[in-house]
Amino acid sequence: MRISPKTIREARQISRLLPPLLRPTRSLEVATQELSWIKRELPKSAWKNAVLQRMNHTPLQYILGTQPFGDMDLITKPGVLIPRWETEEWAVKVLDFLISNSANNIRILDACTGTGCIPLLLNSQLQKAGIPHTIKAIDISPRAIEIANENSTKYSSTVEFEQQNLFTLKPEPFDLVTSNPPYIPMKDYLSTEVEKSVRRYEPKEALIGDLEFYTQLVHTVDDCDADNFIFELGYQTQAEHVKRLVSSEWTVGTLNDSAGNLRCVIGSKNMELNLTSLCNTIM
Ligand SMILES: C[S@@+](CC[C@H](N)C(=O)[O-])C[C@H]1O[C@@H](n2cnc3c(N)ncnc32)[C@H](O)[C@@H]1O
Repeated sequence: MRISPKTIREARQISRLLPPLLRPTRSLEVATQELSWIKRELPKSAWKNAVLQRMNHTPLQYILGTQPFGDMDLITKPGVLIPRWETEEWAVKVLDFLISNSANNIRILDACTGTGCIPLLLNSQLQKAGIPHTIKAIDISPRAIEIANENSTKYSSTVEFEQQNLFTLKPEPFDLVTSNPPYIPMKDYLSTEVEKSVRRYEPKEALIGDLEFYTQLVHTVDDCDADNFIFELGYQTQAEHVKRLVSSEWTVGTLNDSAGNLRCVIGSKNMELNLTSLCNTIM
């Protein structure tokens, strides 16, 4: 969609910093919102440079250096995936589930942790609720682990972050495995469906992946003897793949996000603490 000269004129009348923001945002309303964040969060001397970076499609979160996630403001730098609202939404549901079921002493593994958004949210809120627990989180990327550790320090967390490859992870006992793995198949990543700023700036190792990650996650669940799991995904085929891989003692279902899109596959073989109660559909 092209931006009309009228919109550009309107933007210039409001602020000379606004027209460049129309290029990545395509809307006066969004550009105005982004400019207000830049002005609020950065010193005046940094505004012009921030606008120029944004004009070239650098994600706003890398420019501002943070992204809200729950009640946290997570450090977000190039080299690590920017946490998404869809992930926050299901992580909050898991958290509410654990709190309302008093999941005392639960042992959680978060695989492919990125900024550490999922385990840090669970850790901070379970601590506040007085629910004892342990959480380990792994990522193959040293940069992700470095940033996750910065976030961990910022929020005084007790999460143990480790640089590990999911595919060679040594088994340890856990009760719940959470993960938002790379799940965009290469052909979709290369299509126009993925936003330019995502393709240009976010690490492709964090995004490109498919069934191999779900196969490995199911192996990890088995190796860790976990009885609940939740994996973010983007495609029905990925959910069906998980359902096919697990044994018959597992109940498996899917959860949609609030935009109505398929978002997670959930499995449980624990009758008392059954995470599939969050599902929209049991498979
Ligand atoms: C989609 S991002 C999710 C990050 C974070 N959990 C979130 O929700 O924002 C996937 C993450 O998986 C990591 N990753 C990719 N391959 C991996 C592997 N073989 N083992 C462990 N982590 C991996 C990437 O470095 C990236 O941080």
